[in-house]
Amino acid sequence: MQLIDGKSLSKKVQSNVKSEVEVLKTQKNIVPGLAVVIVGDDPASHAYVSMKEKACKNVGFYSIAHKMPETIRQDEIIKIIQMMNNNPHIHGILVQLPLPKHIDTNKILEVIDPSKDVDGFHAYNVGRMVTNLDSFVACTPLGVMKMFEEYNIDLEGKDVVVVGASNIVGKPMASLLLNANATVTVTHIYTKDLSAHTRNADIVIVGVGVPNLIKENMVKEGVIVIDIGMNRLEDGSLSGDVDFKAVAPKCSYITPVPGGVGPMTIAMLLVNTLKSAQQFGESI
Ligand code: GUN
Repeated sequence: MQLIDGKSLSKKVQSNVKSEVEVLKTQKNIVPGLAVVIVGDDPASHAYVSMKEKACKNVGFYSIAHKMPETIRQDEIIKIIQMMNNNPHIHGILVQLPLPKHIDTNKILEVIDPSKDVDGFHAYNVGRMVTNLDSFVACTPLGVMKMFEEYNIDLEGKDVVVVGASNIVGKPMASLLLNANATVTVTHIYTKDLSAHTRNADIVIVGVGVPNLIKENMVKEGVIVIDIGMNRLEDGSLSGDVDFKAVAPKCSYITPVPGGVGPMTIAMLLVNTLKSAQQFGESI
C-alpha cells in the first residue's frame, strides 16, 4: 500500500506557481490577484477562506476577502461581483459555498466573468470542461487528476466509481475521468446498492461527507481509494469518508485525511488563478 501524499505534492505545485509569479511580475508587471466572497459566519467556510488567503500570500499573489453578513441581499452580492469583474487587478473570483438559503447560488455563479472563474463553477466553464476544451476546472477534481498524474496512475479503461454527484466535486470529477478514457460510474444518495458498484471498482473516489462510509468489505484487493471527505468528528479530529484503518491494507494507493486531497484543492486554486493572470497578460 502506498500513500498518496497530497501535502508534499501541494508544496511542489505551490513552489512552481511561486516561480511563475516571479516571471509574470518581471516580464509583464502583473501580480496575480484573487478575490474571495464569503457570506455569513460558518466556521468551516471561514477556515477554508483563511487557508486560501494564506496560500495566496505564500506564492506572492494579491488577495482580498469580501466578508458579508448572512442577511445580505442577492443584488448586493451581484453588485460586488460585477465590480470585481471590472477590476483589472483581480484575475480570480471565488464565491465560497455554501451560500445562505435566500441566495440563488446558480444566479450568483453565473454573474462571475468566466475568464475569472478560477473555481470552474460557471456553466460556461463546466460546458467547456465536459466537451474537453480548455477551461477552468473545479479545484478539487483537478487536484485529484494531478495526483493520478504524479503517481503515474493510468486511467484508460479503468473502472472508476465516483461516490457523490455534487456540482463542485462528483460531476466534474466524472467528466475529467471520462475525458481520460476511464469507465465511470457515478453513485449518489439514491443509489440502491453502493457496495455492488464499489466492490468491482479499480478506483473509488468518494466525497460525500459521511465518515466511514467506505468500509473494508466494499472494496477489492489492490483498489485505489481517493478520499475527498472532510468531516470534523466530535473529538475535534478530522476524518474522511473512508474507514482508513480497515481499508488501507487492501489498497495499492490511498489518500490520507488530512494531508490528501485537501491541500491539492488549494494548490489548484493557485494554479487556476495564475493561469487566469497569465491569460490576462497575453491579452494586453
Ligand atoms: N465549498 C466547498 N468546497 C468549495 C470549493 O472548492 N470552492 C468554493 N468556492 N466553495 C467550496
